[in-house]
Amino acid sequence: MTETLKGSRILLGVCGGIAAYKACELTRGLRELGAEVQVLMTVAAQQFVTPMTFQALSGRPVRSDLWDPLAEAAMGHIELARFAEHMVIAPASADCLARLAHGLASDLLSTVCLASAAPLSIAPAMNQQMWRHPATKANLAQLLQRGVRCIGPETGAQACGDHGPGRMAEPSQIIADLLAQRAQARVLAGRRILISAGPTYEDIDPARFIGNRSSGRMGFAIAAAAAAMGAETTLIAGPVALATPAGARRIDVRSAAEMHAAVLSEVGANEVFIAAAAVADYRPSTPQSRKIKRTAQALELSLIPNPDIVAAVAALPNRPLVVGFAAETEDLLVHARSKLERKHLDLICANQIGVAGTGFECDDNQLTLLWPGGERALAPAPKTELARALLLEIAARLAQRGR
Ligand code: PMT
Repeated sequence: MTETLKGSRILLGVCGGIAAYKACELTRGLRELGAEVQVLMTVAAQQFVTPMTFQALSGRPVRSDLWDPLAEAAMGHIELARFAEHMVIAPASADCLARLAHGLASDLLSTVCLASAAPLSIAPAMNQQMWRHPATKANLAQLLQRGVRCIGPETGAQACGDHGPGRMAEPSQIIADLLAQRAQARVLAGRRILISAGPTYEDIDPARFIGNRSSGRMGFAIAAAAAAMGAETTLIAGPVALATPAGARRIDVRSAAEMHAAVLSEVGANEVFIAAAAVADYRPSTPQSRKIKRTAQALELSLIPNPDIVAAVAALPNRPLVVGFAAETEDLLVHARSKLERKHLDLICANQIGVAGTGFECDDNQLTLLWPGGERALAPAPKTELARALLLEIAARLAQRGR
């Protein structure tokens, strides 16, 4: 079957940069596959390609002015936001990433992005040093956390003479990604998925707690991807500083006991439970209501075990599909398989911790999926991508079970 984008309404944002010429080819490719394309250019983009070129290729007048009196008489930016079933920004400049990350509405493109709930893909293009700048990295991390999809950039020779990362992905790559997203978009439609994420904090006294290094990024990425794939998504989050993924319902908790109560009260309505949270295994036996004073003596804390949340869900009579995570510093797969069996899980995602750049507190991870009788290693990738791969595996299992 020929892949097609027939019937899809794509809003293509074009930012200023030499790669703007590639957006012409992208417009033509999208139209050839049957998409309706509305091009939206920034002022800077018009220094590189004229609106007339995009008008000819898209068959629609290009929009670029937030203050166009004619368009705004009909609330043009809202009408554009509603038109978009999918938004693509190619090329996306460093300036554009910064505006989006901070929620600015200072030009038509950033305003429409803020006013639209449509999935957003960006194809960054900029000088390699700008791409490597900590500000750009932080802006991109924010956007990825919110479920924005980043395609590219490629590494190679740059128009400025530099060599490095920052070349816009090829139009064919962007189109392939859109086709894949379209195929995945409804793969979990009608499914209900419950996800736990982040650490738990176990209070010692009003000033101190026992916690761990989970940032919540893995679980939040799964929630963002599940909602984007059409699932009714509930996210039970430990104490983290992350924005709620679009389309997900969020319940905030602090301790393992609170997470346990929230999961058990929610899980009945769900077909899948994914336990990505790093739940504290122990809590102080007698948390103090007053701050413990410093003395010269050694202080001993008495700890008691917390309930095992994922095991409790797996023991329910009408259990959902139960997916756990295993965070290990050594003998990763041996310990993960033992947890899979001990906790009676359907699937476990093993990830290494204690190594920089993977596991806790970073944007990337490496997962090996294990199930009774099999395993599959996923290539190291951003947590946003691994989340999608995991959910596709789960969707296939739900379909197999005829659930
Ligand atoms: O949050 P990030 O910074 O993005 O990092 C992601 C992560 C490393 C936290 C995540 O990928 C991960 O591995 N989460 C599980 C961490 C963990 O607690 O692993 P564990 O091996 O201790 O627990 C095994 C499983 O039992 C987990 O699914 C856990 O949620 C669950 N569990 C553990 C203890 C407990 N009392 N109740 C539980 O449900």
